[in-house]
Amino acid sequence: MPDLEALLKEERVFHPPKELVENSNIKRFMDRLGIKDEDELRKRALEDPEWFWSEMAKEVGIEWFEEPKKVLEWDPPYAKWFVGAKYNIVHDALDKQARLRKNKVAYIWEGEDGSVRKITYGELYWEVNRLANALKELGVKKGDRVAIYMPMIPELPIAMLASAKIGAIHTDVFSGFSPMALQDRVNDAEAKVLITADGFYRRGSIIHLKEDADEAIEAAKSVESVIVVRRIGLDVPMQDGRDHWYDDIVRGQPRECKTEQMDANDALFILYTSGTTGRPKGVIHAHAGYAVGVSATLKFVFDIKEDDVYWCTADIGWITGHSYIVYAPLILGATSVIYCGAPDYPKPDRWWEMIEKYGVTVFYTAPTAIRTFMRLGEEWVERHDLSSLRLLGSVGEPINPEAWFWYYKYIGKERCPIMDTWWQTETGHFIITPLPTTPLKPGSATKPFPGIDVDVFDEEGNSLSKKNIGGYLVIKRPWPGILIGLWKNPDRYIKTYWEKFRDVYLAGDAARVDEDGYFWIQGRLDDVLNVSGHRIGNSEVESALVSHPAVSEAAVVGRPHEVKGEAIVAFVVLRKGYRPSEELKEGLREHVAREIGKIARPDEIYFVPDLPKTRSGKIMRRLVRAKITKDRIGDTSTLMNPEALVLVEKALEGEG
Ligand code: PRX
Repeated sequence: MPDLEALLKEERVFHPPKELVENSNIKRFMDRLGIKDEDELRKRALEDPEWFWSEMAKEVGIEWFEEPKKVLEWDPPYAKWFVGAKYNIVHDALDKQARLRKNKVAYIWEGEDGSVRKITYGELYWEVNRLANALKELGVKKGDRVAIYMPMIPELPIAMLASAKIGAIHTDVFSGFSPMALQDRVNDAEAKVLITADGFYRRGSIIHLKEDADEAIEAAKSVESVIVVRRIGLDVPMQDGRDHWYDDIVRGQPRECKTEQMDANDALFILYTSGTTGRPKGVIHAHAGYAVGVSATLKFVFDIKEDDVYWCTADIGWITGHSYIVYAPLILGATSVIYCGAPDYPKPDRWWEMIEKYGVTVFYTAPTAIRTFMRLGEEWVERHDLSSLRLLGSVGEPINPEAWFWYYKYIGKERCPIMDTWWQTETGHFIITPLPTTPLKPGSATKPFPGIDVDVFDEEGNSLSKKNIGGYLVIKRPWPGILIGLWKNPDRYIKTYWEKFRDVYLAGDAARVDEDGYFWIQGRLDDVLNVSGHRIGNSEVESALVSHPAVSEAAVVGRPHEVKGEAIVAFVVLRKGYRPSEELKEGLREHVAREIGKIARPDEIYFVPDLPKTRSGKIMRRLVRAKITKDRIGDTSTLMNPEALVLVEKALEGEG
């Protein structure tokens, strides 16, 4: 981009098009309340968040079985929203829609092989009910866990909705995770049923998902039944009495199924996410607060209207897909696109072709994807008419200004504002995000969504707001989509989020707030990698490495990477009797892929004789990382073996 450098230096503020602002949902909402601008709205909403969020519940049309008695009960560190209400998110996402928008398309689905399915709200309703009845027949009851390990096919949201409908708790495991990763999660959640598929296509080849699922549940004793969707017609082994074809089990089931009336704060799903230590943690979200939070943010940030065609490219197996492909768009009665396949297959214009074909108006993706397409060149974009687009979105990691400008210029044709949404698995929905009315600064997620109290703290818990100094990103009061806990792990819940600053939520990110109140996210503070917008614990990769017979110790750190954000770099100490070799490196990379999934496969592996450790024997990852980023090392007097750092440096230089 020839003018890029000039643009970067300019620090221009980008104002959204007037027409978009005037017609936006948020502008109409403010007009109705006589609020003059978004800063006043933020102020009013923070003065009385309970008022604001109950307004939001009305705005998105929440229908309660029994009205809440209280908007919020805050008993730190546990928050309950819409206390006393009887509710089920599936009522708003589905039952209500089947009544209001029976013939409207809910999902336009396209497979990598070119197959297309359009599913109306009416059809979705029947499908979900039939599967819900089948689950009941298999003995699934309220509160039971249903594990879901599926590719991006319509049966994936159907499975989630069917579980939630009967009051079960779903736990999705991303289909790119390995059998071992699935096994860990299924065991932790003690899932009774697993829903999966025979296989799917990825970049033209077949992924044998059912085989992976079988391997996983060999040692997952809680699983009584497996439901298998026939996606591509593979001949897979089916265990008698345990495994059922989806088609067979839903055949003949009634098209109606009563929606379980849940307590507003009953668990809806568990979603595992990486943390600093140990195993992934099971983040739990509840029905009501989550429903209001996700749908209000989608309505007012992405400005969803009745005739929009909305496409979020995330995988449903991650939080972005849960919130913004499944629950929020359905609650708003929107039409969404779901694509099951590689973004650049068969050619790098697959996404742009689809935007043109379906007339996508709102497009939400991740910086890593944008950077990939940037490298492939804008000629692939220019082959297609993208004039249907009116709003763009970004999520998963800070979007670097180069990628921002490219996205703005070539995809949005300088017409479409970019909603850079900061949030987390734990927050459930956007926390810091522009509104369609917000002047944008490329690289900043701008300001908190109204009604959410975000700040940046120094070590002592003093606010660094508008000081432009980096500190801890925190949320000072509960927000509707707040996690309700970590599955079977209340101690870790408190320790991770609530211990550093009393009764204040610690996000784990560093950020600064500039003079205009704009937030700039600087990345994770803890030992968690962000690879292509996905969270991977350094310790998870390390423990996968040391589970290999050749490895005695490992340190895993991130290296800034042009496309992925961070690349995984591993330093490995071998056991006696093993010698460094290229084959062993490849073997270790494959081993990690098998243990966790391809996404965690180290990009670089270095063999070292020793790793820098404290006197108490703790590996000093921070120092290893500093060698990579060439940051100043600082004090090393606590090191037991300072020479190990030199060896790390030598390894980096020698092997390149
Ligand atoms: O570091 C932040 C980064 O992703 C983390 C949350 O990861 P996860 O729970 O997997 O959810 C990702 C999708 C919501 C955050 O702690 N992150 C997410 N969005 C942004 C971001 N960093 C900067 N800007 C964003 N827009």
